[in-house]
Amino acid sequence: MSKTSRGDAKDESKHLPIYRHKAKLVEAVKASTFLVVTGETGSGKTTQLPQYLYEAGFCKNGRIGITQPRRVAAITVAQRVSQEMQCTLGREVGYQVRFDDCTSQDTVVKYMTDGCLLREILADPGLSQYSVVILDEVHERSLNTDILLGLLKKIFSKATKSRSFPVRVVVMSATLETDKLSAFLDNCPVFTIPGRMFPVTCTFGSAVGPKDTESTAYVKEVVKMVLEVHTSEMAGDILVFLTGQTEIERACDLLFEKAESIDYRYDVQDQTVDGLLILPLYGSMPTDQQRQIFQPSPPGIRKCVVATNIAATSLTINGIIYIIDSGFVKQLNHNSRVGMDVLEVVPISKSEAQQRAGRAGRTSAGKCFRIYTEEFWQKCMPEYTIPEIQRTSLTAVVLTLKCLGVHDVIRFPYLDSPEERFILEALKQLYQFDAIDRRGRVTQLGKLMVEFPLHPGLTRALLKAASLGCEDMLLSVAAMLSVENIFIRPGHPEKQKEADKKHRALAAKCGGTNDFATLLTVFQACKSSDRPSAWCKENWIHWRALKSAFSVETQLREILLRLQQMRDFPVETFDGNKNELFRRCLCTGYFTNVARRSVGKVFCTMDGHGSMVNIHPSSSLFDQDAELNWIIFHDVLVTSRVYIRTVCPIRYEWVKDLLPKLHEVDVYELSSVAREEVTDEEMTKWEMREAAKRLPEVSTEDVI
Ligand code: CDP
Ligand code: MG
Repeated sequence: MSKTSRGDAKDESKHLPIYRHKAKLVEAVKASTFLVVTGETGSGKTTQLPQYLYEAGFCKNGRIGITQPRRVAAITVAQRVSQEMQCTLGREVGYQVRFDDCTSQDTVVKYMTDGCLLREILADPGLSQYSVVILDEVHERSLNTDILLGLLKKIFSKATKSRSFPVRVVVMSATLETDKLSAFLDNCPVFTIPGRMFPVTCTFGSAVGPKDTESTAYVKEVVKMVLEVHTSEMAGDILVFLTGQTEIERACDLLFEKAESIDYRYDVQDQTVDGLLILPLYGSMPTDQQRQIFQPSPPGIRKCVVATNIAATSLTINGIIYIIDSGFVKQLNHNSRVGMDVLEVVPISKSEAQQRAGRAGRTSAGKCFRIYTEEFWQKCMPEYTIPEIQRTSLTAVVLTLKCLGVHDVIRFPYLDSPEERFILEALKQLYQFDAIDRRGRVTQLGKLMVEFPLHPGLTRALLKAASLGCEDMLLSVAAMLSVENIFIRPGHPEKQKEADKKHRALAAKCGGTNDFATLLTVFQACKSSDRPSAWCKENWIHWRALKSAFSVETQLREILLRLQQMRDFPVETFDGNKNELFRRCLCTGYFTNVARRSVGKVFCTMDGHGSMVNIHPSSSLFDQDAELNWIIFHDVLVTSRVYIRTVCPIRYEWVKDLLPKLHEVDVYELSSVAREEVTDEEMTKWEMREAAKRLPEVSTEDVI
């Protein structure tokens, strides 16, 4: 990057609404332990405030840490700020997200995901490295940010004696709920950055109505709308809100195809427009592509960014005049129908829709085209988005809290308390995984588990493998499950057939009936290839995803090695073949996700919910008629049906001893554990109930 463009970025920042309040803002941060800062998105909170504090000397004693709920935001904002501060990324300004640490000894302004800061608190509960902690995007109400709010309140409400200098906690939010935040943080002051907003005209469409909440027609509709806006509206960039990577890639493919046939002499209303630049934007995109999003489009070219919700508040793209709102978002929700967290496409809330529309009115008047009807708005869209803490599994978070010494997880200071049953569900799962004992105390295994940034089940499988000396297999699988989808799904039907063929061939290499093994095969085949990127291309595999998987594997291995050196690590032996060993290890982590064949191709889960589930078409077991009676699966996708993905056949014997644990404790019995440690007497009551709740006996026919 040249000197001039760096200078430009710095100059640009002087025009941001926050700039005029610099001195007062710095004073406000100095004046009290907690401060709430609010202002419209795009006013400069995320990029500017840390720089102001840096200039004011806040880094003399420690770092400034800024959390983001989304990794893309942490990375791109750090890039931007390093540019403005004219330093190399990773030096004074750096970022850390899960599996990617771009900081050094010199880093004083550190952007990171909220999950990373939570992990840092585990290692250093007083956050002694930091002079300022900024929780950003608090209005998003991500699970980790909510937990951090409670923890920081607990840690810093009283002056901590162990610190040699006082800490400052700044909580930043886009206008929502500031009174509530202030009340929560000991009635701290609120600093409001006045912003200006231009009017945005919103129109409803006719494509998505109340009956369409489960269809995926919105992708096509959005594409139609982009082309309409492109050809009939005056110059100005478009921002499209879609649901996720797959939908975005599909929409972009369709757009590329359709945009080719536009004849700019006749088809477009505004004759200054003579091209369309289509840019996808989602969480796991490569960083160089993300950077392009912020670059102004060349003269005459209309930029169209097709994004997930990330563009709603975390990232501000300049020059957007038109919004196209699909009305949907992909969200992790606890689904009571299947009794677990599932990624679902759901209608957004009205407040979210307003936020989306607002992105068109930052620099001039704008227009927002909603593809849904007004009836959809009224009948299907809730007023507000429910905080994540009230709708997802708390298993990992409760384990973290317990490891931090917070035993009473019910009376923890939550900004909005999760339902008690969710906390109990988390405790139950931790108990099933042997991460906590019956008194709610963290076990040795639990202490090992908390070190891994993975789902507890997957961690348990990995630790089992490590104790049996076959961690290589599980490390690769865990890494593959931690990156985005590795299989390319081309939009073109012919190419799709070709890709399917290649993917089936890869699955066949390891027997063709185990999706976890397929992941392992892909990992190993690519790793041992002389030209891995060419290998990926040939096999329709995302090379970028595989590269991330290689790096994740290395990092997981490092964590494991560190633990093996530090603690007493269990060692076990096993004599059987490798295939069985592999699947048995998976069973120790996935026994909560066991299903048994019911009728035809429908399976029934064994976790007490008895949900009927179908194998997803992407699984190599999808059209297998083999004697498949017992399976385990990685995750669930709910559309009009309940699908399970990444599936592996198992034998009943392997889970026989584990399954009773699923029915051993009643969640309500755990409520006393959630509050405080229980007495031995209460323990005995549990033991008695346990006997009464055994699984029904299964005949040997079920054993494959
Ligand atoms: O945090 P807040 O929403 O208040 O604003 P911000 O994220 O600090 O954005 C301030 C300005 O920086 C906006 O005009 C963004 O477009 C710009 N920005 C950028 O050009 N590149 C980035 N990677 C991040 C922000
Ligand atoms: Mg921001």
